[in-house]
Order: sequence, then structure tokens, then C-alpha cells
Amino acid sequence: MKLNVAILPGDGVGPEVTAEAEKVLHSVVSRFGHKLDTSIGLIGGSAIDETGTALPENTLNICRNSDAILFGAVGGPKWDSASSSIRPEDGILAIRKELGLFANIRPVKAYNSLIHSSPLKEDRLSGVDMVIVRELTGGLYFAQPKKRWADESGRQAVDTLLYSENEIFRIMKVAFELASTRKLKVTSVDKFNVLETGRLWREIATEVSSDYPDIDLEHMLVDNAAMQLVRAPAKFDVIVSENTFGDILSDEASVLTGSMGMLPSASLSGSISESAASSKASLYEPIHGSAPDIQGKGVANPIAAILSVAMMLRYSFDLREEAEVIELAVQDTLDSQYRTPDLATDKSIVVSTSEMGLQITNRINKTTN
Ligand code: NAD
Ligand code: IPM
Ligand code: MN
Repeated sequence: MKLNVAILPGDGVGPEVTAEAEKVLHSVVSRFGHKLDTSIGLIGGSAIDETGTALPENTLNICRNSDAILFGAVGGPKWDSASSSIRPEDGILAIRKELGLFANIRPVKAYNSLIHSSPLKEDRLSGVDMVIVRELTGGLYFAQPKKRWADESGRQAVDTLLYSENEIFRIMKVAFELASTRKLKVTSVDKFNVLETGRLWREIATEVSSDYPDIDLEHMLVDNAAMQLVRAPAKFDVIVSENTFGDILSDEASVLTGSMGMLPSASLSGSISESAASSKASLYEPIHGSAPDIQGKGVANPIAAILSVAMMLRYSFDLREEAEVIELAVQDTLDSQYRTPDLATDKSIVVSTSEMGLQITNRINKTTN
């Protein structure tokens, strides 16, 4: 198979982790006799510096002409000035919107060998295997009005939380379809007790559930969900939530795995089962950011980016065996005690970003067909 992949490394640790993910992609492609064509695009702060915009037209064209996109991270203190009207984050937001990538799939699985890397107690972590389905192109992030002004009462700002029934229907379908391939449970997270959008969200979750009689639908308020995620995380299967809640809950859930550097994600324009057949490119990205505090030190954990490649192979190309080879190589590397500093305990062999990438690619290259 010929894989045409756009690579958008971005800022901070983005290029560091993407470089390792790209090596893994090359290894797996050559092991299975596929062909890979990559195109690199500028995005985020580095694109602002070079072109004055966070998502240059050329990058968008590269993405539109690719089968799949691998994205690193954007942002950093250099571009954080309050007076600047262009932000690096606009680059990733615009790409999600332009390509209609409304469904963000964030799997959270606790590896046995990482149980001591998490600050949570061992008995809470056993059996943790959930997927957060985050709505990605609506809600507070995008709806208008969104602005800032000053008048006689001082400085003011507004963001708008708007959802149409169609936006909620389509993300619910993705969540229910996913649950039907897993543990048959959907937890729909909302703020039904306060927000009008929460009430619409809950109403539509209930309507969609009638098409999926085998699936157990549970509604949960977002504040309670944040608490249950650390109190009894193994009870979750598929969590579906709106854009902002999904963003926050998934960073919290990463602690169950030991580090932010462990969670991959896929941003799709339809359900998982439709994505391999779709002519539209999907985007694969670690959930973490540009981590300016560790940038340039060679210590960032590349596993979230590497597992994002596995998701790409599975969802965009239907290459399941290839995806599994990556996942097994990651697991074996962790079982062999290799850890970047974010995961290290006193029994670990502490390695750099590139050594972690090398351990994983070595295992991919060694395995036989
Ligand atoms: P962050 O995710 O960059 O970092 C949070 C913490 O997790 C930091 O202590 C960081 O060192 C650690 N961390 C993150 N990724 C890691 C990795 N791979 N290995 C080891 N440790 C890791 O979040 P932040 O500090 O709040 O944001 C920094 C910048 O990143 C901001 O400009 C923000 O807007 C941007 N951001 C971008 C994305 C994205 O591009 N998808 C996502 C989140 C944040
Ligand atoms: C993420 C990030 C982004 C988001 C930012 C960088 C816009 O936090 O992908 O989780 O909030 O969606
Ligand atoms: Mn986030």
C-alpha cells in the first residue's frame, strides 16, 4: 500500500516527539513492504515566525492532498503575549475546523508495567481501559460571539457555548458505535443542571441510545466525572463529552497511565468504521502540548506520538497488524523497564526521547512477519 502522510511537527517538543513517531512509521512501512510518501508542513508558532500566519495555505493544501496527518504540538511562551492577535493554537484549531475533524478519539489504557509510574493507588488502576470521545469542532472553542471589548463597566470578554442537535447527534453516533465494539457502555458527560446546552446534550444522548439497545447509557455531570475518573476509573468504557470538558478530562485521565506523554489521539470526520474508506484525511496527535518546560532537553516522552501512528495505521489505512506491531513494541519496551524521565521509578532504565524511539523501532524491525 502507498501511504501519503502529512507531517506537521509544530513547536516545543512537537518536533522532538514527531521525529521518533516518523522513524516508527518508516520502520513499520518497510517491514510490511508498503510505500511511504511524507510532506512536511509548517504550523503554529514556527509558522507565524516564517509566514505571519499559524496555518499557512501551503500547509492546508499539503493536508488536503494527504491520506492522513501526523501532528506534534503548537504553542509556547514566545507567542503568548496578550497583545498578539495571532496565536499558534489557531493553527490546530483551524485545521480541525477546515477538515471537519469533529470526533477526537482519546484512548486511555493503564499498562501493567506503568502502574507504579502513576501517583494513583495500584488497586484503582487495574482494569483501566476507556476511550474519551471529545467533540472537537464546536462549543466554546468556535461559536460566535467570541470577543473582548471595554466600556463604562470596564474590560469585558465573551465566548459562546453553542451546540446544534446535528453536532451532538453525530458525536453520539461515534461514541455508541465505538462502545458497541468494546464494553457496551457509554457515559455521556454534561452540565445538565446548569447549562441549556447540557440539557440538549443529555436529551440527544438519550434519543441516540434508543438505536443501540445493547448499550448501557449513563449520564454524568462533569464535576462528578472529574472526581470518578480518579476514584473509580475502571468503571468507564466510552466517555462522550463536549469540546472543553473533553479537553480537561483527558488531561486528567492521562495521570492514570503515568504521564501526559502516553496518550495518543485520532481526530476524525466520521465514525471509526467509516474512516478507512473516507477520502478525507484524518489527523493523529498526542494529547499533550509543546511542553516548553522540557523543550530541547531530549527528555520528552515520544510514546503518545508513536501510539498516534498506530491509530493512524488502524483507522486511516485499515492496517491492523501493522498497528498492533507498534503497540506490542511499545509494551515490550515498557516491560523491559525503559522509561523517559516522566515515567521513571527507581527500577527504571532512564532513556532520552531518541533512545526510547530507538528501543521501539528496534523491536519493530526485529519482529518477523
Ligand atoms: P503541556 O501538555 O505542554 O504540558 C503539561 C505538562 O506535561 C508539562 O509539565 C510538560 O512537561 C508535561 N508533558 C507534556 N508532554 C510531555 C511529554 N511528551 N513527555 C513528558 N512530559 C510531558 O501543557 P501546557 O504546559 O499547559 O501548555 C504548553 C503549551 O502547549 C501552551 O502553549 C499550550 O497552548 C500548548 N498546547 C498545545 C497542544 C496541542 O498542540 N495539541 C495541546 C496542549 C497544549
Ligand atoms: C488539545 C489542546 C488544544 C485544545 C489547544 C492547543 C488548542 O489542548 O489538543 O488538547 O484545547 O484542543
Ligand atoms: Mn488539551
